[in-house]
Amino acid sequence: MIFYFSATGNSRWAALQLAEMLGDRAVDMMKRDPGGYDLTGQTVGLVFPVHAWGVPGPAERFVRKLRGKPSFAYAVATCGAEAGKALEMLSGVFPLDSKYSIVMPDNYIFMLEPETGDAAREKVRAAGPKLRKIAAEVQARRPSEDVERGKLAGLKSGPVHALFTRFACSTRPFYADIRCNGCGLCVSVCPEKSIRLENGKPRWGTRCCQCSACINRCPVEAIQYGKGTRKRGRYRLEALLK
Ligand SMILES: Cc1cc2nc3c(=O)[nH]c(=O)nc-3n(C[C@H](O)[C@H](O)[C@H](O)COP(=O)(O)O)c2cc1C
Ligand code: SF4
Ligand code: SF4
Repeated sequence: MIFYFSATGNSRWAALQLAEMLGDRAVDMMKRDPGGYDLTGQTVGLVFPVHAWGVPGPAERFVRKLRGKPSFAYAVATCGAEAGKALEMLSGVFPLDSKYSIVMPDNYIFMLEPETGDAAREKVRAAGPKLRKIAAEVQARRPSEDVERGKLAGLKSGPVHALFTRFACSTRPFYADIRCNGCGLCVSVCPEKSIRLENGKPRWGTRCCQCSACINRCPVEAIQYGKGTRKRGRYRLEALLK
């Protein structure tokens, strides 16, 4: 069984690729009840995006609730460049036999232009051989570590990640501009269930892991985060690969 968490499609794509190579099943963490599985004796894969060199809150909470002792467990972190110690953090919650990172286009729209175009497509292409290597090692149940941690990983995944979750995850700067047509997609994709429609417009509650699903996936690009995102593009793997 492969469980994935994904805001803009990268981790979902990686999980589906692995499932196909391994003849396994990939399921969306946000659509399942973690208590409904007994993983005893199973091979279990976890695929998630790196958020500030750590594990996104909704994915960590899901994994904490899984029951049973797998016979082999591995995790794949997708990231724009470096995973820091995100996999070690996850292993503290759910012991892992193998840890991997895969570099994919960066969707961090809140401060940067999300990656698009040929450079982004090249990252996706380059991920293919690594996924095949991971699948072969999982198939052989060979413990392995192949993680791009980057420099100062302890500092980034420790204090910097803690500062990110404490101070950078505000919903206050979110708003929908006049292009919003009230379709409600942002409500359904929010893993924190933080968005509701009021008079046909989204309103944000306080919980947010900054996954970027709402802002990157709004079909008419109506969602903004302060002033900085007005001129930025949006990222969805599906759109990149079209
Ligand atoms: C809030 C946030 C924080 C991120 N932090 C990192 C990071 O620390 N290192 C990195 O390489 N990429 C980082 N990224 C980029 C994502 O990890 C990367 O684009 C990932 O593949 C997105 O996966 P998804 O489409 O499945 O959500 C971050 C993205 C977001 C939205
Ligand atoms: S996804 Fe976009 S268009 Fe649809 S309700 Fe949300 S902000 Fe409005
Ligand atoms: S409000 Fe937007 S960025 Fe925050 S958790 Fe929900 S979908 Fe993700």
